[in-house]
Amino acid sequence: MIKPLPWRALLTAAPLCLASSLSFAAGQAADTIAPEAASTLQTQKLAHAQHFMIATANPVASKIGYEILKAGGSAADAYVAVQMALGLVEPQSSGLGGGAFAVYYDASKKKLTTFDARETAPLEATPALFQDKNGKPLTFYDAVVGGRSVGTPGTVKLLGELHERYGNLPWKDLLEPAATLAQDGFIVSPRLAGALANSKKSLARYPQTKAYFFNPDGTTKQAGQRLKNTPYAETLLMLATYGADSFYTGRIGKDIVSKVRSVPDNPGVLSEKDIASYTVKERTPVCLPYQGYDVCGMGPPSSGALTVGQILGITNQFDLASMGPNSPKAWQIIGDASRLAFADRGRYIADTDYVPMPEGLLDADYLKARAKLITPGKALKTVAPGEPAWRHPIALADDQAIEFPNTSHVSIVDKDGNAISVTTTIEHGFGSTLMSHGFLLNNELTDFSFKSYQDGHPIANRVEPGKRPRSSMSPTIVMKDNKPYLVVGSPGGSQIIGYVAKTLIANLQWGMDIQQAISLPNSLNRFGTFELEKGTAATKLAKPLEAMGYKVAIKDMNSGVQGIEIRNGQLTGGADPRREGLVLGD
Ligand code: GLY
Repeated sequence: MIKPLPWRALLTAAPLCLASSLSFAAGQAADTIAPEAASTLQTQKLAHAQHFMIATANPVASKIGYEILKAGGSAADAYVAVQMALGLVEPQSSGLGGGAFAVYYDASKKKLTTFDARETAPLEATPALFQDKNGKPLTFYDAVVGGRSVGTPGTVKLLGELHERYGNLPWKDLLEPAATLAQDGFIVSPRLAGALANSKKSLARYPQTKAYFFNPDGTTKQAGQRLKNTPYAETLLMLATYGADSFYTGRIGKDIVSKVRSVPDNPGVLSEKDIASYTVKERTPVCLPYQGYDVCGMGPPSSGALTVGQILGITNQFDLASMGPNSPKAWQIIGDASRLAFADRGRYIADTDYVPMPEGLLDADYLKARAKLITPGKALKTVAPGEPAWRHPIALADDQAIEFPNTSHVSIVDKDGNAISVTTTIEHGFGSTLMSHGFLLNNELTDFSFKSYQDGHPIANRVEPGKRPRSSMSPTIVMKDNKPYLVVGSPGGSQIIGYVAKTLIANLQWGMDIQQAISLPNSLNRFGTFELEKGTAATKLAKPLEAMGYKVAIKDMNSGVQGIEIRNGQLTGGADPRREGLVLGD
């Protein structure tokens, strides 16, 4: 049984800065609040601070992180507390059953590094994991829901390692806010309620998931309803008592395996050996010199930093600054640069612990040559992967992964100047929809290509035992004079790459502050069709882009960028108005 925890008071106290218009529901006696009150959580403002700052996708999580920072916690401490809360209040996007990538700046050592806590394919998995008995790829939803898509979770290991290396506050203190919230119940936000309603069918498939997310009358939980999660509180108490590793060595890991393997309709092959042998990998950041900055992020198995880097490097051959954000030509150049970068991504980028990759994807001469393919004012007719420098080339076929927009991003700077940019995920909304110990299990393995070969050539991002599926997550820290200048990232599946590139171009080329850069309407081109954000000024680009030869699709484009800019010792934060994000600082 969970004992009442002292953090209860913390959850009801208002932070000093920026949150005065918000109504935080934790600790209230009533079981529901009016949906209009819940929707006030959607407020965003440009935030300024002197000492520390946090931006997350959920106001309750931001508030928890803010209090940790205020109590002297490091950026890593705040992320631990925030991730524990996000798994509860934004369960559709990330959690203990998922994986993450973190870019971390250690101010005491003046060192930038990255951590890969991506899920791994089970040791028993084969390249045919997502194929039927005739070798035909499964449909996405046949693959996602159930145990087959569940990879070994990495997030809890990451939290433990970040705390061990960079933590100031006791581990258990970081888990108490979310444990209290789970025990007392949190108020379902409008975004979570909408996601629940949209995923009703898959959430109803497994009794434990259904019991948690549905009301007795068969409706999904509504905005403003209080939702308690005692198993989650107990999980946090277990982790607080026995440490993060107990997730991998004890009952929690064993129960995840038995759930994945025993689900009757779509079992998976995850084993206790996969869980016990999971490791977080520290990797060298991938950086691109750009406009006097170094744009740094996560290398493979993420395609994030390389693809964002290619977009920036190719567009940098044109004068985007003088074209400005209202120029259709500027967007056409960004769009075609993105198509070229996505062609290379699809051919070459996967988990480089398993497959070789060209070394020259960000070489200046290569990017210049790719830029020469673009004609301003005229859509590129055909797009193919290039031939970057590669010491030992092999013939590969293009990736065929199916990617939908989900995930969450957290940006934090602490009082000592440490910074963390983490993109965290359980992949699809509500992951595999299987639950264990109060949290959802990921479906990250569907980020692999379902096909393993094409026309006799292997696909780099095919399933292999122990391999990490290719990601689009692009947690980024932009360095200026060897110090962080911008801490930024976004959810959004493969659209993440374009959302982050847009924010960087808007801030670094067009001089927008971080909130303006985030709020700027989204216009992306990954595979040929120009996607323009519905209900925004981006739709005005439709006619000029069509005249240049593009097919245009006007659609919802739900970026969720959280960013912090550090200029002359001042912190300025922005949260994406398309989601429920909130920036807090002091
Ligand atoms: N599952 C989202 C990503 O890794 O890109």
